[in-house]
Amino acid sequence: MNNIKISPSILSGRFEALGESVKDATKWGADYIHCDVMDGRFVPNITFGMPMVKALRKCTHIPLDVHLMIVEPEKYVPEFIDAGADIVTFHPDACHDSGKLLDYIRSRGVKAGIVINPDVPVSVAYPYMEKLDMVVIMGVFPGFGGQKFIESALPKMKELREYAEKNGYSIDIEVDGGVTEENASLMILSGVNVLVGGSSVFRSNDPAATVKKLRGEI
Ligand code: DX5
Ligand code: ZN
Repeated sequence: MNNIKISPSILSGRFEALGESVKDATKWGADYIHCDVMDGRFVPNITFGMPMVKALRKCTHIPLDVHLMIVEPEKYVPEFIDAGADIVTFHPDACHDSGKLLDYIRSRGVKAGIVINPDVPVSVAYPYMEKLDMVVIMGVFPGFGGQKFIESALPKMKELREYAEKNGYSIDIEVDGGVTEENASLMILSGVNVLVGGSSVFRSNDPAATVKKLRGEI
């Protein structure tokens, strides 16, 4: 077993039975469950909020990796943590004071992360490195699953991993969006250690095998 973690995104799950999709992903060997929260303002889509996270908390023992694609995340983070989030990541471009919010998330014993969109440089993360457990590098513009990976995200992974290692930060680097069995190994080589698989996992005819392939185990 290597230290690569797979976080299936339930945005590609069965919304008519999301709890079952969470149980399925857990059974397939997922390390995290990636919960895509969207408010229709920060991104042109709306998914679910705190009550859903609270309900999904009952469906699995593995960490809930909650990705907030919302404006004013500082307003809602306390309730997402109350609902059972184990990792909370948010977009700094949507937040008034990212440093303060990262400190708050950690003060609640929850892992804290920021999300870097395809058109945002990874250097946005540099001032916060002391406060970060994870940086998410988007492989697509947020809002929808099933999109094609944007290749320019690859050198960003390498740059961030090199910066972290050079400055002694042992953060998780997650890639989110457009991950497939074909491109996962290149992303791992570029320095990521957490991969979100939405459509690649939930549309696979053997999801458990896909989880293993994304992790590089087969
Ligand atoms: C997009 C979400 C991603 C997406 C991943 O806004 O943040 O997590 O669901 O889905 P795939 O893997 O299909 O690109
Ligand atoms: Zn996501």
